[in-house]
Amino acid sequence: MLNFQFYNPTRIVFGKGTISKLRELLPAGKRILMTYGGGSIKKNGVYDQVKEALNGFDVIEFGGIEPNPEYETCLKAVDVVNKENVGFILAVGGGSVLDASKFISIAAGYDGDKWEIMKKLMPLPQKVPVGAVITLPATGSEMNCNLVISRRETKEKFGGGIPSAFPKFSIIDPSVTFSLPTRQTVNGIVDTFVHVMEQYATYDVNSPLQDRWALSIIQTLVEEAPKVLKNPNDYDVRANLFWCATTGLNFMIAPGVVEDWSTHALGHELTALYGLDHGQSLAVILPRLWKALFNEKKEKLAKMARIVWNVGGTDDEAAEKCIALTEEFFRSIGMKTNLSEYGVDAAEAAAELKRRFAERGVNPGETGKLTPDVIYKIVSES
Ligand code: NZQ
Ligand code: ZN
Repeated sequence: MLNFQFYNPTRIVFGKGTISKLRELLPAGKRILMTYGGGSIKKNGVYDQVKEALNGFDVIEFGGIEPNPEYETCLKAVDVVNKENVGFILAVGGGSVLDASKFISIAAGYDGDKWEIMKKLMPLPQKVPVGAVITLPATGSEMNCNLVISRRETKEKFGGGIPSAFPKFSIIDPSVTFSLPTRQTVNGIVDTFVHVMEQYATYDVNSPLQDRWALSIIQTLVEEAPKVLKNPNDYDVRANLFWCATTGLNFMIAPGVVEDWSTHALGHELTALYGLDHGQSLAVILPRLWKALFNEKKEKLAKMARIVWNVGGTDDEAAEKCIALTEEFFRSIGMKTNLSEYGVDAAEAAAELKRRFAERGVNPGETGKLTPDVIYKIVSES
C-alpha cells in the first residue's frame, strides 16, 4: 500500500425530508446566494422545499447554470458575490451547479486571470463557504473537493481537486431523484462506475480492503441499475444509487492505491469538442482504453471479473471478459458506447485529441504509456 493522507470535512445529511434541515446548517446573519441550474428544481418541488426552509434568511438567487458549467456564467455570479456582500453559497442542483458554486467562491477572492485557477488547479482559498442540496447521483461533488468547469469559447474543459473546495455540508434526499430523466439516471450510473474504476483498475499494490470497497460499489451498481430503470420511484433503490455515487468519489476508496484519471481526461475533451454528456464520453472511452493498456491493467480486471461476475479462466481470459461485460452492462442500461452513435467521426476526434495531448506534453495515466499515439488508437477505435 502507498503512503497516504485522508481528509474529508463534509457533513452529509442523508434521507427523506432532509431539505428542512437547511435551517440548522446555514449560518445565521449571513446573506445567502442560492445557485441553481436550468429549472428542474422548479418542476420537482425542490425549489419550494428550499425556499420554505430558508424562510427568514436573507437570500438572493442566481439561476441558469448550465450542465458542464460555463466559465462566463460563473464570472457573472462572481460579480454578485462581491457586489452583494454574500456570506454563503447554497448550491441546489446537480454536479454542475455545485462545481460552479465551488469555482465562484474561489474565483471571488482572486484578482488575477480566473481561468488560470482551473488550468493550473491553483490551491486558493474559498472566499465564502459552500453548501449543497444535491439532486443528481453521479459526480460525488457533494463530498469532494473537485470541480470541473467548461469554456465554450475555446472548447476547453478543465477539472480536478482544489483542497479548499469541500462543501461544508451536503443534503442528499434520494426522493428528489425520482424526477430525473432516464438519460441522467444512466449518465450517473456510468459516471459512478468509471470513478470507481479510475481508482481501482490500475496495478496491484496489495490493498485488499480498498479493492473490496471499490468492487462492492460496482456490485451494488450492477444490482441496482436494472431496478431503477424498472421502478424509477423506488426510494430504496434511489438511496442505494446515491450512496454509491457519493462514496465512489469521496476519496474513501482512494487512499494508498494507484489512480488513473485518463478516461476522464479523454472524456472531457470529447465533451468540450462535441458536447457529449459527461457519462456518455466515459462509456465511449473506457472499454477501448482498457484494451489498449491490457497488460498494465489485466490483473485488476481479472480480479473484478471474478468477484463481480463470477468469471473463471486465466487472468487474460477473465480480464477480456471484464472488458466485454462492462460494455455489455453499459449497453444494457441504454448507454451508447460508440462515437458513431453520437454522430462523431472517430478518426477526426482521434486526430484532435492526439494533437491536444501532444501539445500539453504530459501523458495521462498511471504508467506513462498513454502517449499521443496510443490516445489516437483508443479514440479512433471508439
Ligand atoms: O439544470 P437543471 O434544470 O437543474 O437540470 C439538470 C441538467 O439538465 C438535470 N437535473 C439535475 N437534477 C435533477 C435534474 N432533472 C430532474 N430531476 C433532478 N433531480 O440533469 C441535467 C444534468 O445535470 P448536471 O448537474 O450537469 O449533471 P451531473 O451531476 O452529472 O454533473 C456533470 C458535471 O460534473 C462534472 C462533469 O464533468 C460535468 O461538468 N464532474 C464533476 C466531478 C466532481 N466535482 O467531482 C467529477 C465528475 O467526474 C465530473 O467530471
Ligand atoms: Zn466523472
